[in-house]
Amino acid sequence: MTIISLQHVTKDYGHGRGIFDVSFHVKKGTVYGFLGPNGAGKTTAIRHIMGFSKPQQGIVTVSGLNSWNNASTIQETLGYLPGEVALPEHLTGEQFIQMMMDLRKIKDDTHCKKLMDFFELDASGKVKRMSLGMKRKLAIVTAFMHDPDILVLDEPTSGLDPIMQQRFIDFIKDEKRRGKTILLSSHIFTEVDATCDEISIIKEGHIISSFNKQELLNMTEKVFHLTVENTKDYTQLIQMIESDITFQLISKNEQINELQISCYPSDLSKLIKRIADFPLLSFSEVPFSLEKHFMEFYDRRVGGELPWQ
Ligand SMILES: Nc1ncnc2c1ncn2[C@@H]1O[C@H](COP(=O)(O)OP(=O)(O)O)[C@@H](O)[C@H]1O
Ligand SMILES: [Mg+2]
Repeated sequence: MTIISLQHVTKDYGHGRGIFDVSFHVKKGTVYGFLGPNGAGKTTAIRHIMGFSKPQQGIVTVSGLNSWNNASTIQETLGYLPGEVALPEHLTGEQFIQMMMDLRKIKDDTHCKKLMDFFELDASGKVKRMSLGMKRKLAIVTAFMHDPDILVLDEPTSGLDPIMQQRFIDFIKDEKRRGKTILLSSHIFTEVDATCDEISIIKEGHIISSFNKQELLNMTEKVFHLTVENTKDYTQLIQMIESDITFQLISKNEQINELQISCYPSDLSKLIKRIADFPLLSFSEVPFSLEKHFMEFYDRRVGGELPWQ
C-alpha cells in the first residue's frame, strides 16, 4: 500500500532550480531514502509532501489525501523533522516540550519520556543556551512525541555527533520494526545505506536513479577475500580464477598469499565448489558499499562525473 506518493511534481524556481517531474512512492512499513547533494531539491520535495508548498504541476498525496488540500491534517498527524529547526529561544526545553504536548493534546507522556531517555536529552536548561546537538535532540523529541505512523525526516542526522547519528539510525530501524513508514532525505550515503529499503537519487531537481536495495544487492557482484597456506596453492588458485570468466580477480598480494575475487550471486555455488579444493586460511565477504557502487556507477556511465559534483 502506497503511503506517500509524488506523481510528476514540478516546482520551478527559475534558473534551473527547483524540482522537475519528480515521481516516487513510499510503501507502508518501508524506509525510503532520498539521496542527493546540497541544493538538489530534497527539501523542496519534502515541503510538498508536508503541504507547505503547492506543486505547479503534478500531485502529492499522503495516505490518499492531497497534501496541499489537506495540509493541516497532514501536518498534525505526520512526524516531521525539518532540516533547519527554529525553536523558541526564551523557553526552557521542558517548557517547550510541555507547550508541544498541549498543542498536540497529548495527555500521556510515556512515549515522550522514552524518546528523551533514548536520545539522552536534558531539557532542563534554556533553549538559547543549548548546544546545536541538544537543540536537534529537542526537535527530534517534539517531532515524534505523538508516536506518528509516518515519519518525514529532512537530513535528520545533521548537527548530531557520531554517537547520536548512530543512535538515530537505531531509532529509524526500531521505528521500522514497529511498522512505521519513513521517508528520509540525506546527502550521506552511509546512513541511507544503513536504513533504507528503497532509494532515489536526486540531482539538480531531477531523479536520476531509483532502486530497491535488496534487488540491487542481488544483482551486484559479491566480493570475497581469501588467503591460502602456501605459494604453490596460491599460484594454482590464481590460475583457476583467471581461466574462468565467471570469476574476476580484483586484487592480489603475493607476499601474504592473499587475493580478492568477485562473482555474481548466481555463480556463488560454483565459486564455493571450486575453491573448496584449496587449503584456505581465510574466506570472507567484503561488505557491499552503496557509496562505492555509486562512485563506480557514475564513473562508468557518465564519463567520470560524480553525482555529488
Ligand atoms: N523558495 C525558494 N525560492 C527560490 N529558490 C528556492 C526556494 N527553495 C529552494 N530554492 C532553490 O531550489 C534548489 C533546491 O533547494 P532545496 O530543495 O533546499 O535543496 P536540498 O534540500 O536538496 O539541499 C536550490 O537551488 C535552492 O536554492
Ligand atoms: Mg535541504
